[in-house]
Amino acid sequence: MTQEQANQSETKPAFDFKPFAPGYAEDPFPAIERLREATPIFYWDEGRSWVLTRYHDVSAVFRDERFAVSREEWESSAEYSSTIPELSDMKKYGLFGLPPEDHARVRKLVNPSFTSRAIDLLRAEIQRTVDQLLDARSGQEEFDVVRDYAEGIPMRAISALLKVPAECDEKFRRFGSATARALGVGLVPQVDEETKTLVASVTEGLALLHGVLDERRRNPLENDVLTMLLQAEADGSRLSTKELVALVGAIIAAGTDTTIYLIAFAVLNLLRSPEALELVKAEPGLMRNALDEVLRFDNILRIGTVRFARQDLEYCGASIKKGEMVFLLIPSALRDGTVFSRPDVFDVRRDTSASLAYGRGPHVCPGVSLARLEAEIAVGTILRRFPDMKLKETPVFGYHPAFRNIESLNVILRPSKAG
Ligand code: HEM
Repeated sequence: MTQEQANQSETKPAFDFKPFAPGYAEDPFPAIERLREATPIFYWDEGRSWVLTRYHDVSAVFRDERFAVSREEWESSAEYSSTIPELSDMKKYGLFGLPPEDHARVRKLVNPSFTSRAIDLLRAEIQRTVDQLLDARSGQEEFDVVRDYAEGIPMRAISALLKVPAECDEKFRRFGSATARALGVGLVPQVDEETKTLVASVTEGLALLHGVLDERRRNPLENDVLTMLLQAEADGSRLSTKELVALVGAIIAAGTDTTIYLIAFAVLNLLRSPEALELVKAEPGLMRNALDEVLRFDNILRIGTVRFARQDLEYCGASIKKGEMVFLLIPSALRDGTVFSRPDVFDVRRDTSASLAYGRGPHVCPGVSLARLEAEIAVGTILRRFPDMKLKETPVFGYHPAFRNIESLNVILRPSKAG
């Protein structure tokens, strides 16, 4: 071993981490628990990245200015930007691309549209959507919670927020899903084999988005999020056209699959835990907390979110070089027993206020109230209408660069008449 190799292995402790291996998405917790117990940080060779495993270190990074969110600060940013050129403006002018001052300006514009009070105005529309989806299938004995239900909810809610007609939902849903996947291409080692399909959906969605924005420019509406953003754009200094498109694109991309998985994981965990199920049925007010506990106990992320070192620095005893990527292993941080007592127990009454599932600091998720409202209505309504619902089989997981992707979750809505 040369001196250089020796130095490298000294500063880059490597551990066995295989987040794309079969079985990982179904249950990553035994593997990540071993890692969290063994080390606060390790170098994941295949991912060309450091990985932080423990709660306090992950939590601190969210507010540590030595770490950037912008992919422009990554040592491999040129290579990353050149993958899927159709997305290059979204990467550069989106909330994960802008420098901190520009990011703060854009967040300030959009935050008021996502307060819980503003989002609560969507309650009736979300309830209507959920009822329609259940009415359409209520004669069936069996039901796929992902395909027949969850997939139909988040995009309708975002469209209601943006006052976009229902005819656009399907294209925007495909766009949101494809964009969330495509943004992972080049960031994580595993590449989706269907990049061409992703590009087609991204291109189709961007064209539709430009059309919707043009139409709203011609026909502004009162009390409307898009009209407000277009006025900021017209102002010149408050929002550029590229920032506007990237922002609305990001709302669609970040708000679609995330909430589909939240609904699916919530139904899954409640059906797996009869005690928790009885509690939320008896006390519907517990649902909000139960949803936060789902995200803590069975987090939907495959690995977590990323940051990039702005300078050479020491963190948890490791020497991180300027430009290196750091993954925050969120599902692991949320099972850290130094913060959550009995971390491996799904407890719908737990105090979840320390959860990092929606992030922290300047990039904290703006969509948290919307995600919670959708899931509360979706999960609450299906449990009310089908109180005897049961899991039919274990869920089917597929590939996704960022999420533990439940592709289908089959349930039996009501016991069969013969049974
Ligand atoms: C289960 C649902 C959701 C979860 C778990 C979730 C989680 C997160 C997390 C952890 C972040 C921070 C990432 C980081 O700091 O690197 C984030 C950011 C973001 N989320 Fe969510 N999210 C959810 C739903 C939504 C929804 C419904 C929307 C919008 C309709 C949304 C829009 C966004 C946007 C635009 C950002 C970027 C914020 C920024 O960079 O300033 N999310 N989300």
